[in-house]
Amino acid sequence: MAQYARGSAVAVIRLRNPPVNALSLAVLQTLEDGLKKADADPSVKAVMICGENGKFSAGADIRGFSSPKRLGGALGPIVSLIESSEKPVVAAIEGVALGGGLEVALGCHYRIAHVKARMGLPEVTIGLLPGAEGTQRLPRLIGVPAALDMITTGKHIPATEALKLGLVDEIVEENTIEAAIRLANKVIGQPLGPRRLSLKPVPKVPNMEAFLDEALVKVKRQARGCLAPELCFQAVRAATQSPFAEGVRRERELFQVLLSSGQAQALQYAFFAERAVRRWATPSGASWSSAAPQPVRRAAVIGLGTMGQGIVTSLVKANIPLVALEQDLENLNKGRKAVMLLLQREAMKMEGGAQILDFHNPAHLQFTVDFDLLRDVDLVIEAVFENMALKKEIFHKLSKICKPGALLCTNTSALNIDEIASATNRPQQVIGTHFFSPAHVMRLLEIIYGRHTSPTAIATAMQLAKALKKVGVVVGNCFGFVGNRMMFPYVQQAVFLLEEGSRPEAVDQVLEDFGFKIGPFRMSDLAGLDVGWRSRKDQGLTGPSLPAGTPARQRHGQRYSPLPDLLCEQGRFGQKTARGWYLYEKAGGRTATPDPWLHNFLSQYRDTHGIQTRFIDQEEILERCLFSLINEGFAILAEGIASGPEHLDVIYINGYGWPEHRGGPMFYASTVGLPRVLAKLQKYSEAHPDVPGLRPSAFLKKLVAVGNPPLKEWMSYLSQQSSKL
Ligand code: 3HC
Ligand code: NAI
Repeated sequence: MAQYARGSAVAVIRLRNPPVNALSLAVLQTLEDGLKKADADPSVKAVMICGENGKFSAGADIRGFSSPKRLGGALGPIVSLIESSEKPVVAAIEGVALGGGLEVALGCHYRIAHVKARMGLPEVTIGLLPGAEGTQRLPRLIGVPAALDMITTGKHIPATEALKLGLVDEIVEENTIEAAIRLANKVIGQPLGPRRLSLKPVPKVPNMEAFLDEALVKVKRQARGCLAPELCFQAVRAATQSPFAEGVRRERELFQVLLSSGQAQALQYAFFAERAVRRWATPSGASWSSAAPQPVRRAAVIGLGTMGQGIVTSLVKANIPLVALEQDLENLNKGRKAVMLLLQREAMKMEGGAQILDFHNPAHLQFTVDFDLLRDVDLVIEAVFENMALKKEIFHKLSKICKPGALLCTNTSALNIDEIASATNRPQQVIGTHFFSPAHVMRLLEIIYGRHTSPTAIATAMQLAKALKKVGVVVGNCFGFVGNRMMFPYVQQAVFLLEEGSRPEAVDQVLEDFGFKIGPFRMSDLAGLDVGWRSRKDQGLTGPSLPAGTPARQRHGQRYSPLPDLLCEQGRFGQKTARGWYLYEKAGGRTATPDPWLHNFLSQYRDTHGIQTRFIDQEEILERCLFSLINEGFAILAEGIASGPEHLDVIYINGYGWPEHRGGPMFYASTVGLPRVLAKLQKYSEAHPDVPGLRPSAFLKKLVAVGNPPLKEWMSYLSQQSSKL
């Protein structure tokens, strides 16, 4: 609702719809009523629009876009109504003015903002464009380059930057509402024409067309198949080419295209999924609503390799003092140097007055090889080599040294949390915190509870994720947890496709065209082929412990491809050795070139094993890789490892470069249609009976049998979830 009040000559319209004053149809109606009332009341000389509870508005109510009585289109005329008012209208911006919220403010004649307020047009991030005339007003106010940047990226800008851009007229440190009323009183009677943005020309940029052409190339490159950025661009270009009213018509047309594109639904699903996973629950009944986190005043990180360095950086950025521990001085010095470099870079990037802990102060960041210094920390994150015996040794030591309440976290990628916990005297305080590389950049934190992990431990890990500005997703304990477990069959299919006749660049291209940031072979070269090789040797799948006489392409009666092992035996570990699935310009180089040696090697391999090369089309590549990953997702849901498909989708979008405009793998499966996913898996499984990853999961079959219900109903078809606690 919006609330109308009139004390003096200034009428106040307050947008009220907790928690973020989203502009629902009801709010819009009262906003319109308030404006008309103020217009009709001769004692009202000016109007001030503000939001309830220190927030202006987060824009249109996103849920409204999927309801039959659609929101799209309703706001624009109201913004026009504000602008055409004969009485000055002032926006008092506190907290956030985003999307339609900022468009309302752009309709006002004056804008005043609190110094801590943030503004932006983030519609592009939910698959839309600013559809309430924002694409036409913003360029007129702040110029095309700045407007294009804000609209095509959706970034939020702090009030200080908004002032520099001319987006707001004034910023205040104290009471924004009072300042806005003062301003409103001051401007009574002043001419409004120059304050109406729709009447202003778009400021000229030298060589506008060349500038726009260049900007379009950049927008397209960054969009990777997502429609919204390009349509945002087109709407802004219309502002440079046509009068205001025509630009608005174009904006509306483009908005409708996006609204019905499917991508908007996927991105809006992803927006709500990310928020839904915060309300975690486990099969045993523990949940966010009853568990309280412990405070983390001081932490520790063990192991300063690739992951440890990023984790330390993340903690420092979140202003959590910590101790960083290595096994010896040589590794400590190496780790310290790398961490300091990362921190210096991060400190330079901090914006909007944000502060980073003084990392030169040992009271904030202490480097050591002495376990005794971990005595009084509240939380430890272990990031040593992926080796069960080593991890158990460390956890045993920790349980003797750390204070009784300390939470013990492991950054293992796949190992059994319960087995690690068994080495301690406090399994209830042991939990998996699986970061993704680079750990100070990637948003995902997979949080894995074991059989004995307490609800407090889960709540504390979730709180940590929030403090680190990451998305925490709570999942159960199984080999590879959720993310890596779904990744195994995907990568396996990619390698099988090479055996059968494809090439790394062909497989990568199909998946990158689908929208992945990076295909499976480029990914494997980046991460290092040796990582998986070590793990397969530990599992006895290759290397000296493989029993003599094991068939080259079979393990435990299932199909196995030794291709990655053979590459490792040749010293081809990927980027780090300048050779892997591709060729690189130098060790550590990043430019992947298809490698004739590898093509030849693949032909010889097929000859050796009597595999007939065949042409594999793009559809088969895509379906075998994605549907096997999705199939594993259904098995995970059926086992109760994750409490809903949203969890899997949030994990894939934030940790594995899944294209967000496709909503995550499980959402994607729902858009393809489960009967089709099942039919394709059945077909591929018949062709490859020795590949369990292609055998349709019982849960998928059940969902098809009950009529392909919508995603939000899937979990209700599980008869009972297996308890993992
Ligand atoms: N519509 C509906 N619900 C919204 C919403 C919106 N625009 N913005 C936030 N919410 C809901 C969230 O779902 C969440 O609900 P929950 O508590 O039930 O999970 C609650 O408000 C609080 O949001 P957050 O948990 O995200 O709170 P934060 O403090 O972390 O962030 C925020 C606040 C920065 C405002 C963030 O919510 C946000 O970015 N919101 C979306 C902003 C946006 O995309 N606006 C554009 C809308 S489209 C539009 O305006 C079209 C127009 O051009 C015609
Ligand atoms: P790494 O090899 O880069 O670093 C491990 C570090 O641990 C080394 O610096 C080593 O000196 C140190 N270390 C070994 N024993 C120690 C001990 N007893 N005490 C203190 N420090 C010790 O390994 P990386 O890649 O950082 O992996 C660490 C963990 O994170 C592993 O469990 C891995 O599976 C997991 N992980 C790795 C990811 C990656 O992309 N590299 C992603 C997610 C998880």
